[in-house]
Amino acid sequence: MGVLKDKFKAKADAAAAEIRDMLKEHGNKKIGEVQLSQVYQGMRGITGLVTETSLLDSQDGIRFRGYSIPELQQKLPKAKKGSEPLPEGLFYLMLIGELPAEEDAGYITSTWQRRSHVPNHVFAAIDALPVNTHPMTMFVSAIMALQTESNFAKRYAEGMNKKDYWDAVFDDAMDLIARLPRVAAYIYRRKYRNNQHIHPNGLLDWAGNLAHMLGFEDESFKELMRLYMTIHADHEGGNVSAHTTHLVGSALSDPYLSLAAGMNGLAGPLHGLANQEVVKWITEMQDELKTKVPSKEQIDAYVRKTLSEGKVVPGYGHAVLRKTDPRFEAQMDFAKRHFPDDPLVQIVWNVYEVVPPILQSLGKVKNPWPNVDAHSGALLVHYNLKEYEFYTVLFAVSRALGVLSSLIWDRALGFPLERPKSVTTELVKNWLKGEGEIWGD
Ligand SMILES: CC(C)(COP(=O)(O)OP(=O)(O)OC[C@H]1O[C@@H](n2cnc3c(N)ncnc32)[C@H](O)[C@@H]1OP(=O)(O)O)[C@@H](O)C(=O)NCCC(=O)NCCS
Repeated sequence: MGVLKDKFKAKADAAAAEIRDMLKEHGNKKIGEVQLSQVYQGMRGITGLVTETSLLDSQDGIRFRGYSIPELQQKLPKAKKGSEPLPEGLFYLMLIGELPAEEDAGYITSTWQRRSHVPNHVFAAIDALPVNTHPMTMFVSAIMALQTESNFAKRYAEGMNKKDYWDAVFDDAMDLIARLPRVAAYIYRRKYRNNQHIHPNGLLDWAGNLAHMLGFEDESFKELMRLYMTIHADHEGGNVSAHTTHLVGSALSDPYLSLAAGMNGLAGPLHGLANQEVVKWITEMQDELKTKVPSKEQIDAYVRKTLSEGKVVPGYGHAVLRKTDPRFEAQMDFAKRHFPDDPLVQIVWNVYEVVPPILQSLGKVKNPWPNVDAHSGALLVHYNLKEYEFYTVLFAVSRALGVLSSLIWDRALGFPLERPKSVTTELVKNWLKGEGEIWGD
């Protein structure tokens, strides 16, 4: 771990000094104006956060430290005989800000293997929940149970110097990421495979081992997990899971508490839970139409029915993106290469043709195009991972890479407690009448 930590520390110290100088010179520059409507509408478009690991462009989609998903697929190290990027390499890129060499990714693989032990009380905590508990509830409960292992909490209680916060967060983040695949696989096998668990394989990479522990030995499923864990990892800082992890971490809640909070946000249907909703929606369409292969006309009618019932079309739309999500495209490309004739994948592609013009015609949907969740479920179903309630857990394991590498940066850059100003409508009304101020101190 020493080498990676040392490299990170050198980068973080240089960045912190640069930010200090920048703020000294430009700290009072205005970066925008806020309209009243933005305050009431989810703070869309208000720049108010710094997240170093990735940046979202409404047209180009996500870039991780400047690299697009196709570039990552080309430039990140791969598993032996594999062609998909290793998530270990993406973690290195997000943390250090440079593309990793193969040995950098290998170093992270072996570190995570070494630190992957999950204490028994965590399994006992999962087992204490009824088996029909949602897998995301089990997952978050397991993260909370793991919190007994927090270096940060222990060192803080012992009076750690604030200069060392980043160091303890670094250790917790590495431990947590190392352990999450085992926790996720345990939940899956408990809930859906008669409690028959599979031991980790110490020779496999992080995502390959996850596939193995879930019980899927097909090499192309391992490749899918590598791609899946890479593309779901980060989506800049304002999305619910990233922002929540960052916010809770700003109270110096340790990484276990912060990640659990963020993952509770990911479990919402407008965020990560949308991936289960997509497959559920398609399955219900098939059941209702009594056909496995609905025609485009039938899909059209079903979409309109969904909308008329006051529901959203899951997997479509985005708070920031205004184009087809490159993460959707990466998954579409995977399906084209591996199983272009899969019937569910065909439906997903037909839905892609039918939905955007309908959403566009509503006149209010800002982005009629598919997001990451519109495709992921169909790929998992192809490999017989059909238990769609579990899908968000896979998203969560991946998202931990982004939000935890950001949390290390947060503490290394000494970011303070986050505390935006809120107002009451009473105050707004008075301000509109010219009485009093709306802005905070
Ligand atoms: C992602 C999402 C929450 C973004 O929300 P947003 O930033 O408020 O989106 P918009 O500004 O385009 O919303 C404007 C209107 O269009 C509606 N809209 C947006 N996406 C829609 C969709 N997929 N189906 C139906 N209506 C949609 C909104 O519900 C809102 O309606 P309202 O004014 O009646 O409340 C939204 O697009 C959505 O609910 N999508 C489906 C769930 C999903 O796929 N989530 C995963 C995101 S990665």
